[in-house]
Formats: sequence, C-alpha cells, structure tokens
Amino acid sequence: MRSGNHRYTLIRAARDWWSERAPKLGIMGAVRQLMREMYEFVRDSTPERKRLRYGDIDYDWEHRVDTTEATVSNATRFLGTLAISLYQPTEPALFHQMIAQLPIDHREFTFVDIGAGKGRTLLMASDYPFQRILGVELFEELNHIAKENIRRYKAERQKCFAIESQCLDAREFVFPQEPLVVYLFNPLPENSFRRVIDNLELSLQQKPREIYIVYHNPEHRVFLDRVPWREFAVTGQFAIYRTA
Ligand SMILES: C[S@@+](CC[C@H](N)C(=O)[O-])C[C@H]1O[C@@H](n2cnc3c(N)ncnc32)[C@H](O)[C@@H]1O
Repeated sequence: MRSGNHRYTLIRAARDWWSERAPKLGIMGAVRQLMREMYEFVRDSTPERKRLRYGDIDYDWEHRVDTTEATVSNATRFLGTLAISLYQPTEPALFHQMIAQLPIDHREFTFVDIGAGKGRTLLMASDYPFQRILGVELFEELNHIAKENIRRYKAERQKCFAIESQCLDAREFVFPQEPLVVYLFNPLPENSFRRVIDNLELSLQQKPREIYIVYHNPEHRVFLDRVPWREFAVTGQFAIYRTA
C-alpha cells in the first residue's frame, strides 16, 4: 500500500477524466461536456458561489476544525472537477442516522472512508468505539487538513483514538483484512468505483469476513447488485450493504 506523498497531477487528472467520459459520450460529446464543466468551475469560483459553500460551517464552529468545502483552494477544486469528484463533507445528522443502522459491535470493526476529504467523517466515526478509523484521500491539500483536524479534534463523546488519514488514490488502496465498515460518499466516477469494489471483493475472497458498505448518495448501486453484497437498508439518501 502506498501512502504519504502521493501526487495527483494535472496530466493524470486529465487522463482520468477522458477515460471516464470519452467512451460514454464519444469525442465530440466529451469535448462539449468538458466545456460545460469548465464553465461550471468558473461560475462556482465567484465570491457569491463561494459564500454559499459556507452553508456547511456549523460542524466546524462546534468542534473547532476545518471541514468546510468553502475554503478548498481553486487548484484542488479544479483537479477535483477533472477527477469528477469534488470535496463535500457529509452532513452530521445524516451520518449518525446511517451508522445507527449497523447492527454491529463497533469494537470489532475498522471504519474506512474512501475519499475522506478533510476528514469530517473520520472525526464523526470516532464518536463510536471502532477498533480503528482510516481515511483515504486523493488530494494532498485535503489529506493535510484531515491530519490537522484529527490532531485538533476533542469531544467528550469521542471513543476511538486510532484515526489515520492517508494520501492515496483509492483505486490503489489495499483493504485491511479485518471486519470493515466501508463508507462511500460519491468519491469516484463509474470506472474507478468499479475498480474499488473489485478490489474489495478480491480482499473478501482472500479473507472472508463481515463487511458493511455504507453508500451515501448511491449513484453506482448497479455494481453492488451482485454476490457477495446483500442490500440491508435503503432510503432516498443512502444504501447499506453487507456481505451475504
Ligand atoms: C463527496 S467528497 C466526500 C468527503 C468525505 N468522505 C465526507 O463524506 O465528508 C468525495 C471525496 O473523494 C475524494 N476522491 C476523489 N477521487 C478519489 C480517489 N481516486 N481516491 C481517493 N479519494 C478520492 C475527493 O477528493 C473528495 O474529497
């Protein structure tokens, strides 16, 4: 497993963007889509749009951390646009609603957030007595802030202190061979998502164990409609799967 100074370059991002878009849209369709996304990026860079992104700031005020999407640099937002996954933190009430669905003894499970961003879910998961908590994030800027948040976070209700954020492309992540709660909030476009799920299934074959997938905003559910996954809870906002 690689970790640490992973660098996601503009060339790599452009290549990823093209390989996700061109096969589906064709060359002209992909070029049109690129223009649209660049226009949206510029529009979302105006001060008015930036101010709107502070709508998620309550959690940060309460816990003295930095998990808002409003302060992500333009460079990382631009690469995020190409990676087809912009940072957006999970809303706390919804997170706790999703975790409350899991019929588990948290002490036996490792919580893994694929695409952990600034680490808000890692902090929220630490309110439960997970064995350990692990985040995987593509962008160095976000991973650096996540590490700082982990260092700063203090809450009376905190029950897990083994928290780590790694800077790594999730497609290269090797899942730890222990019971897992894998959290996914729109981290990846279709092809990359499929690769991560393939890796998870390979890990399960190598070491059969209990795994839950908590999938927030489940756009690519089609890749989980197969053995070994069994749908366990589903709402308009999330779907939870467990190993059959
Ligand atoms: C919608 S945000 C979710 C953030 C966090 N999980 C949460 O719920 O608060 C998706 C995150 O996935 C990250 N991401 C995108 N592609 C990735 C990849 N290939 N590997 C790891 N992280 C990735 C993005 O940078 C972004 O931070």
